[in-house]
Amino acid sequence: MSERASDETETEAQAAPRRARLRIWRGDGATGGLADFTVDAHEGEVVLDLIHRVQATQAPDLAVRWNCKAGKCGSCSAEVNGRPRLLCMTRMSLFAPDEVLTVTPMRTFPVIRDLVTDVSFNYAKAREIPAFVPPPDLAPGEYRMSQEDVARSQEFRKCIECFLCQDVCHVVRDHEENKEAFAGPRFLMRAAELDMHPLDAAGERGLDRARGAQEEHGLGFCNITKCCTEVCPESIRITDNALIPLKERAADRKYDPLVWLGSRIRRRRRGD
Ligand code: SF4
Ligand code: SF4
Ligand code: FES
Repeated sequence: MSERASDETETEAQAAPRRARLRIWRGDGATGGLADFTVDAHEGEVVLDLIHRVQATQAPDLAVRWNCKAGKCGSCSAEVNGRPRLLCMTRMSLFAPDEVLTVTPMRTFPVIRDLVTDVSFNYAKAREIPAFVPPPDLAPGEYRMSQEDVARSQEFRKCIECFLCQDVCHVVRDHEENKEAFAGPRFLMRAAELDMHPLDAAGERGLDRARGAQEEHGLGFCNITKCCTEVCPESIRITDNALIPLKERAADRKYDPLVWLGSRIRRRRRGD
């Protein structure tokens, strides 16, 4: 066989799809079960490709939410073999060729249909976190921040609101009764980000964000297991960089609130 012919055979062999077995949740929150499907899986594909192939060839009414297929819109969140993941960023090559993939909706939120969940809990929690308070003595355009402060909050700004961290957190995952009192890691991180913001004037209005997180948004429920950090597709160090510092500041201020308020005002005036 010529060198060229052997190259072509090799390429064909590499391109040949394998058969992948999936078990996908079909149904709504009240009734349903896992349905078995077998579809082709081509080299380089992600789980969302296979879900789309199931839709195209065997179950056109299978409901799945997705948008960008690039890990940026945060809408294809689901669970693969029990682990919260973005379907569009989960490569088939992660799994053994004969492994059956069980694809289920996020467990923490009510199922609307098949892989689509109702994530409105998260929007309600987002509204409960007080917004940025503009500094009263500065006009827009006069705001200045040190590069260090910008860099610190930039990590949290990478959040794509996929809610995988909210899904995995054991405080609410198996405890519906905790949902009212617990904002979840994504929104406690938002409280931490604003608390670190040197221009936020919430303190001057008598709002202590760290103590508010502790006393009104359930920070005390968090026992820093770091599961939220482990599933974050943006690799945000939610626990180490947001939740633990927020807990420390809440404890400090509980015992010395005036020192905190004074240092905050001086810091903003100095612009450091
Ligand atoms: S570290 Fe805290 S917020 Fe994150 S998953 Fe664990 S308990 Fe939940
Ligand atoms: S912090 Fe990470 S896991 Fe949580 S919603 Fe944002 S991107 Fe998703
Ligand atoms: S489709 Fe946008 S993150 Fe997966």
